[in-house]
Amino acid sequence: MSKVRILPAASKLFGDIFCPPDKSFSHRAAMIGALSMGQTVIENFSFCQDTWSTLHCLELLGVGVQALTDQSKVVIGSSGKDALTEPTDILDVGNSGTTLRMLAGITSGIQGLSILTGDQSIRRRPMQRIIDPLRKTGIIIGGRAQDKYAPLYLVGKNPLQAFQHTLKIPSAQVKSCLIFAALWGDGPSFIEEPIASRDHTENMLRAVGGDIRKKDGVIQVFPGKEMIARSFYLPGDISSAAFLIAAALLVWGSHLIIRNLGLNPTRIGMIECLKRMGAKIEPFDVSEEWGEPRGHVIIEHSELNGFEINQEEIPLLIDEIPILSVLATQASGCSIIKGASELRVKESDRLQAISENLNSLGAQVKETEDGLIISGPVTLKGGRVKSFGDHRIAMSMVIAGLIAESPIEIEDIDCISVSYPNFFQDLHHIGYRDFEFFPDNDIKNSSGKEKS
Ligand code: S3P
Repeated sequence: MSKVRILPAASKLFGDIFCPPDKSFSHRAAMIGALSMGQTVIENFSFCQDTWSTLHCLELLGVGVQALTDQSKVVIGSSGKDALTEPTDILDVGNSGTTLRMLAGITSGIQGLSILTGDQSIRRRPMQRIIDPLRKTGIIIGGRAQDKYAPLYLVGKNPLQAFQHTLKIPSAQVKSCLIFAALWGDGPSFIEEPIASRDHTENMLRAVGGDIRKKDGVIQVFPGKEMIARSFYLPGDISSAAFLIAAALLVWGSHLIIRNLGLNPTRIGMIECLKRMGAKIEPFDVSEEWGEPRGHVIIEHSELNGFEINQEEIPLLIDEIPILSVLATQASGCSIIKGASELRVKESDRLQAISENLNSLGAQVKETEDGLIISGPVTLKGGRVKSFGDHRIAMSMVIAGLIAESPIEIEDIDCISVSYPNFFQDLHHIGYRDFEFFPDNDIKNSSGKEKS
């Protein structure tokens, strides 16, 4: 497990960079390709540990998968959703909650047995939220510890009983799971979403001819329409770009352009929050394809003010809270994050991980039951922090290191490749080069330094 030492940024960050491709879209494009008749060409695919898990699982369902990594392209071949076959092995999703929850929806419509599991972190994450509603379809389904956790088993059937469900948690993973299952329904299904979350599944299914409507907060899935494969050029991922954006805002004199960023209103809560904080960030050249806005964004170093985020806004920036917390330590005043208890059941307990790490660097972070209260600005001191095996915690700590007064050492940073394998290359590209990797042995005693 590698460690990294992050030195304070010696100079401003600048440049013009393509946004890393979006992980959420990549999972969905591959899965929707598997449900569509014909050949789906996915360009600007995000190759990272999580999406490799999705591709491997789809192969086990009889889907043709061609990964052209040198061209950032994936080609999926399928004869449509009813041609998917009982998996020939356990579906191992690795660290990817999106893969597990969405595949549970898809395998519900496949006759036969599916077993879904993943790594240690996945096996601690809550699964009842998909098991209970999927039972309404008439399939057999269950999980470890009285349905709380993976491994999950399910025996799918085709067709399924159409169903109605009101989402108790605003989760795009749960919503997408149910939308996928509803495609095999024996009639229309209705999924009520009291608080909106990212709607990429709905937009992409419509793009291949799926009949998905939304009225008064209720998603209506009308099954029966054959979905026809098409090509997708995917936008970039704000959840990865967030780290570059934060770096440019924090490091004095920085100026950055990020290209091809996805700007779906259900994903850009961080940009809205940054604007309220007084950040100089502006999207430009915005266009739309298959219902998904995208464009470029320009960012300049800014003086920041504290912010407040409430429950309704959380799904629009759920993955950006760790890095927003780092920004909050540098903002004037008090920042309050409420209604974010979902962060406790992500890849790590992110509320605890953020507060433990930032407090150990001298920040003033108070952990509440469902959020954080952060007072700023404070000068972060150096020290040693943990990734908690969580990619977004690890990257947030790297960015904290750019503006700390002395080096920050971060343990177990291999997890970054779960979502953003080119993170350090991109930082290098925009002018930050003051990091050193240390494989395996202790960072303090390391002799064979590996400079990037
Ligand atoms: C995701 C949805 C979010 C997010 C996750 C990706 C998706 O999870 O945290 O990283 O692609 O649908 P929830 O919808 O469960 O909050």
